[in-house]
Amino acid sequence: MIEIAPSILSADFAELGAQVKAVERGGAGLIHIDVMDGHFVPNITMGPLVIEAVRRVTSLPLDCHLMIADPDRYIGEIARAGATMISVHSEAVRHIHRTLTAIRELGCRPGVALNPGTPVVAVEEVLSIVDYVLVMSVNPGFGGQSFISAALDKISRLRGMIDSRGLKAHIEVDGGIVLQNVCEAVRRGAEWLVAGSSVFGKEDPEEATRQLRLKALEPLTV
Ligand code: DX5
Ligand code: ZN
Repeated sequence: MIEIAPSILSADFAELGAQVKAVERGGAGLIHIDVMDGHFVPNITMGPLVIEAVRRVTSLPLDCHLMIADPDRYIGEIARAGATMISVHSEAVRHIHRTLTAIRELGCRPGVALNPGTPVVAVEEVLSIVDYVLVMSVNPGFGGQSFISAALDKISRLRGMIDSRGLKAHIEVDGGIVLQNVCEAVRRGAEWLVAGSSVFGKEDPEEATRQLRLKALEPLTV
């Protein structure tokens, strides 16, 4: 199922509750929360306190994207704060199979994230135990960057790998998603489309979510 996942990284934090409600009215299927630590990526953002606050204003699944070193130390706290889904970077974890299993044991849906420079084979052995693979289409750390088009071939290859093995993992794409590229990402096999600046950077985030969702659904209706 195609879902738009607005990333609150680009939201107005003074109005966070209202902004989340707005994208919910616009048809958002997930709320994407970018957790950054200033180590794994050169930026510091939010943690369990914000997840817990967002949990109180929406019933949508909270899609928590951990861009942090040593995520094993924090997944328990992130889960208790109200995360529905937790993705960890294959580049940040030493024992990825163990971490993903632990996320599921905490009652959350596990996902594995891949930087643009990391090949798809890095997740081959865990595809059967994840609920989703998050394909980064920018280098993680900041909102508002341009889409790296090589991510499209990567999505295609991953889709092929998942389907040929009869697996159920979903593909999420994150970074630089705009009205102009969302259809192609869906055609290649992405189902969950993260969008930060193309939703919250707009005058009307509710309407921007609606438009992006309609656009993302086009490949399925023609
Ligand atoms: C980037 C984050 C993204 C970011 C996307 O490191 O993981 O989720 O919010 O923002 P846009 O859609 O503006 O590229
Ligand atoms: Zn993200």
